[in-house]
Amino acid sequence: MQKDTLSQEFSKLSTKEDSKSDERSDEVDKKKIKPKTGSTDKTVILERLRRLTKDPEQNVLFVIEEGCRETFARNDFNMALQSIKQAFYIRDYVSIFTTPSNLPVYTAAYIPGRALCYYEIFRSHTQLLRLLAKSSRIYLPGSGSGSELIGMSAAMLHVPPARQHVQLYMQDIGDWSEVLDRLEESVRRQWKLDSKQLHCSYEQGDVLEPSPRRDQLIQEADLITFMFVMNELFVNKAKSMALIQSLVSNMKKGAYLLVVDSAGSFSHLKIGDQTYMIYTLLDAIKSLEKVISEDSKWYRYPGHLQYPLDIQNMRYFLRLYRKL
Ligand SMILES: C[S@@+](CC[C@H](N)C(=O)[O-])C[C@H]1O[C@@H](n2cnc3c(N)ncnc32)[C@H](O)[C@@H]1O
Repeated sequence: MQKDTLSQEFSKLSTKEDSKSDERSDEVDKKKIKPKTGSTDKTVILERLRRLTKDPEQNVLFVIEEGCRETFARNDFNMALQSIKQAFYIRDYVSIFTTPSNLPVYTAAYIPGRALCYYEIFRSHTQLLRLLAKSSRIYLPGSGSGSELIGMSAAMLHVPPARQHVQLYMQDIGDWSEVLDRLEESVRRQWKLDSKQLHCSYEQGDVLEPSPRRDQLIQEADLITFMFVMNELFVNKAKSMALIQSLVSNMKKGAYLLVVDSAGSFSHLKIGDQTYMIYTLLDAIKSLEKVISEDSKWYRYPGHLQYPLDIQNMRYFLRLYRKL
């Protein structure tokens, strides 16, 4: 798309005059999900929480490490990790995520910090926890490496199981099925989530390519997540704008859109002479009500955690929107 056309698209989406007035603060966060049926639910939740052990963050890392055991044992592990780091340095994301032998190594090295952060996000926001406590279809583009699966599964143990039926529709441009299978096995073994409570499916696909399948995934979802994916997608502005249009027109009323991404310059979007944060574009969309809005937040992992590799702290922005 030409620069001018993109600006026009932006202004079409920006018809909301000043979204600040109808921002809802995150006050609901302060309330915790309260079990409705009293002590029975409390007992059940306590029993579930015990599966995360006394040190849930360390347990999350253990589940990842277990799912990546064969990968850590690979002779070429360090070499593959070096080549991924070099590709990051020159922002050659395509080569990282389309080289099959890189994928398990990427997961072992890069998901721990993000899985911990997503666990924290999901367990501390009531609106998200509620979705994990009932029958919910969740569409997760760009989730192949598994951080979302781990973070959300851990958070699922914070709510009662009675009505829990969470269906994860994970999708990514790379072939992550084996990586995700191993992580899912580890999740089920450690956290005892059965296939009714947690249903996982994975399909390889480019979320930027319009298709009836993409429309269907969007239309049926109760929650759509873009976790550290949006700024990569916006390398192709025209297709990303078209994707956002498709979200706006296909999401069902009441469905949620969660966008979490770097709070730094990686999330800058240049339109004409102006530079915006990617969320500015989303905030301007009339039919998306802003439910949670955080421009810059740190996730710092607890210092005592043990893992074979360094874990990254993260500074991120978060937006949760609800389709009106
Ligand atoms: C920085 S990683 C983030 C992974 C994961 N969401 C997380 O938070 O750990 C970006 C992911 O987006 C995927 N991705 C990039 N472009 C994509 C596209 N057009 N369609 C689907 N997935 C894409 C990559 O393959 C990669 O797995």
